[in-house]
Amino acid sequence: MTHIVGIAGSLRRGSYNLSLLRAAESLMPDGATLDVRTIAGIPLYNTDDEAAAGLPPAVAALKDAIAAADGLVLATPEYNNGIPGAFKNAIDWASRPASDIPRVFSGKPVAVIGVTPGGFGTVLAQNEWLSVLRLLGTRPWFGGRLAVPHAGKLFDADGQLTDADVRERLRIFIGGFVQSVRERQISPH
Ligand SMILES: Cc1cc2nc3c(=O)[nH]c(=O)nc-3n(C[C@H](O)[C@H](O)[C@H](O)COP(=O)(O)O)c2cc1C
Repeated sequence: MTHIVGIAGSLRRGSYNLSLLRAAESLMPDGATLDVRTIAGIPLYNTDDEAAAGLPPAVAALKDAIAAADGLVLATPEYNNGIPGAFKNAIDWASRPASDIPRVFSGKPVAVIGVTPGGFGTVLAQNEWLSVLRLLGTRPWFGGRLAVPHAGKLFDADGQLTDADVRERLRIFIGGFVQSVRERQISPH
């Protein structure tokens, strides 16, 4: 079994990025699961708070989920041509303490996807994640690209991904990512 964790980087109730991950969950290849998570309940990072109280429970749970996963998918919104602060904040928390980065992130295969009502599909936010993923020692997957524009036309009122073309692109993307994770499990170098 291949176990992937997906994090939707939005707090919005009707988040398109959460809906995209939920669609991916239903399109996983045989023998693979996608555990869809959000950044809900994660406070703003403050070193004083960390020193006084350690990690908030939501952060500890997210870290453990990432550490246990064979791969990670980040579904990123784009704010002002970059990573939304709330999502970056969640990963900043997950990178604490730095001594735990190897357990949680080192060598972790990571795929980045994103969807937006705008016309450019979150490409700039996706690019910005690369420097973060490099610093954390992950293995970003470059075998596919999924930057989805015009979100307003793709989902129904319940958040179901109804666009057949995007569903197929998502199926191919997630299948390719799972395949690469499996190949690495067989031959890690
Ligand atoms: C402060 C702010 C800045 C935004 N900047 C961008 C942007 O640069 N590019 C873009 O495609 N959409 C931008 N948007 C629109 C978001 O893509 C849109 O709110 C989207 O629904 C967020 O993702 P979600 O549905 O997963 O919450 C911005 C939205 C906000 C609130």
